[in-house]
Amino acid sequence: SLLKGHNIPWVFQNQKHRIESSLLNIPVADDAEVSTRKKTFAEVQTERQDQAERTVLIKCPSKINEKKLLQYLSSHGNVKSHFFFENRGINALIEFSEKSSIASLQDAVGIPSATEHHVVPFKSRLFTFTLKNPVSQHVEETPLHLSPQCHIPVKDLIQKLCLADSISSQMYMLLNEYQLTEENIKLRFLACSLVRDFTRAYFPDSTVKPFGSSVNTFGKLGSDVDMFLDFHNTGKHATKMKKGPFEMEYQMKRLPSERLATQRILSVIGDCLDNFGPGCVNVQKILNARCPLVKFSHQPTGFQCDLSVSNSIATRSSELLYIYGCLDSRVRALVFTIRCWARVHGLTNSAPGTWITNFSLTMMVMFFLQRRSPPIIPTLDQLKELADEKDKHIIGGYDCSFVSDLTKIKPTKNTEPLDVLLAEFFEYFGNFDFRKNSINLRKGKEVNKPEPSPLYIWNPFEQDLNISKNVNQPQLEKFVAMARESAWILQKEDKTQQIIDKEPWGLAALLIPFGRSNSSKMKNRKGIGSETIRGLLDSLKLNNANSQQKAVGK
Ligand code: CTP
Ligand code: MG
Repeated sequence: SLLKGHNIPWVFQNQKHRIESSLLNIPVADDAEVSTRKKTFAEVQTERQDQAERTVLIKCPSKINEKKLLQYLSSHGNVKSHFFFENRGINALIEFSEKSSIASLQDAVGIPSATEHHVVPFKSRLFTFTLKNPVSQHVEETPLHLSPQCHIPVKDLIQKLCLADSISSQMYMLLNEYQLTEENIKLRFLACSLVRDFTRAYFPDSTVKPFGSSVNTFGKLGSDVDMFLDFHNTGKHATKMKKGPFEMEYQMKRLPSERLATQRILSVIGDCLDNFGPGCVNVQKILNARCPLVKFSHQPTGFQCDLSVSNSIATRSSELLYIYGCLDSRVRALVFTIRCWARVHGLTNSAPGTWITNFSLTMMVMFFLQRRSPPIIPTLDQLKELADEKDKHIIGGYDCSFVSDLTKIKPTKNTEPLDVLLAEFFEYFGNFDFRKNSINLRKGKEVNKPEPSPLYIWNPFEQDLNISKNVNQPQLEKFVAMARESAWILQKEDKTQQIIDKEPWGLAALLIPFGRSNSSKMKNRKGIGSETIRGLLDSLKLNNANSQQKAVGK
């Protein structure tokens, strides 16, 4: 079952249980209830979108009385859930039980007079809570809980990790600190829903949906929101129409290419957000990219957003990763660990460039997990075999079908602990023949590279695309060198000694930029074959702690 983890220290069992349950939006179940069916990706998405449509954002004064606020709101309807967070002051996210409560609230607020502010007559779901009388003294002030929307700095994380009792628990600790919270997920869906309010002004049937790391279970607090404009409903109507004798002219000019249509749509939406979107700032249209998009900061939620037009294949990748992330608790813990490790060592970067992206890195972890014996996650071809009629998706001539019902996938028999997987990951990619082989998640096999890009990872759906085409040789070499160095550090580990010396140990030691002495060692080892390194590692393992320290040159 999803809720049963392998090799998790008991302290984290409960937390993990709670986190996964909330992420999937399922009630926390007792062990007796673990048979509760896990929700499909589509079910979770629909539920979250529906939730977001019943949600408003309220800017609050710094001395806010929670009870009073809720009391005011209750006259408009039942508040189903709420939380407070800090973002240029205190804000409250309020989820009503009924959508009609929003209209009631909108009707009850005054519109700024047109002579003072030249407002555009559009009622948004952003409010400010102002009280004429400041909080009366006799009201008991209970401290407000502010839900954190970003993760702790790496240096604080390293300190925390040192208190754990094993590398595996360090990895779960990292996951726990970095992963999206229930509140942050709600805020992400709200941001999409608020943008949708604008796109509907132009395209009444459109929706705005998040994709990428906001929904694939690998999102980190602080990461951007990838969203796309979807006309799916319109498409459905169009196929229905074909049955009758009529053809309809859409309220848009016919354009010679889909790309041009995408660019035109994004161009007007970009202008609309720029001119009228409350709190939408730094709107940048990047229409000539391979995948045209509009970038902007959404100040009310505090997110950096990337808006593109419906990209069905990217949605399929999001769902595929969601499935992998739900299958076994080790999957997400390993991905978060590797992503954090890569960021610390400058292997990934938030700016686009020749480095490996988080998406490619995640695919590399998935591939590694497919290669374990027995495998921890199935190949894409195996997931396709489990697909039924409703899972059928053919997009642009590519068969993107795979099973959506998680319960149809047999749990793995692999019980390797996370610390072993971490060391093996570094070992595996430290010795991978990148010159000859490519990474293919559909087959779960290393296959000959079809073209000479330094790093070749097959796009699982558009089989002729390399998702890591941007990576150059020096970046790949850096990745390999860091992986080798990390494998080596884990091998020579002497936890007891490191704790006595008050040095970071285990994962904490891997999250500190490798010093100059380390990098010179790395240079010396560059070009040595994997056999030599393995021999070196084995000989080190046999030595005692003292001589290990000498060999490292500390
Ligand atoms: N994507 C893709 N092919 C690529 C790059 C991206 O199909 N070469 C799709 C993937 O579905 C990916 C999504 O676009 O999840 C968003 O891309 P990106 O923001 O780069 O990756 P995320 O998975 O969102 O990771 P991050 O947390 O770094 O944003
Ligand atoms: Mg992203």
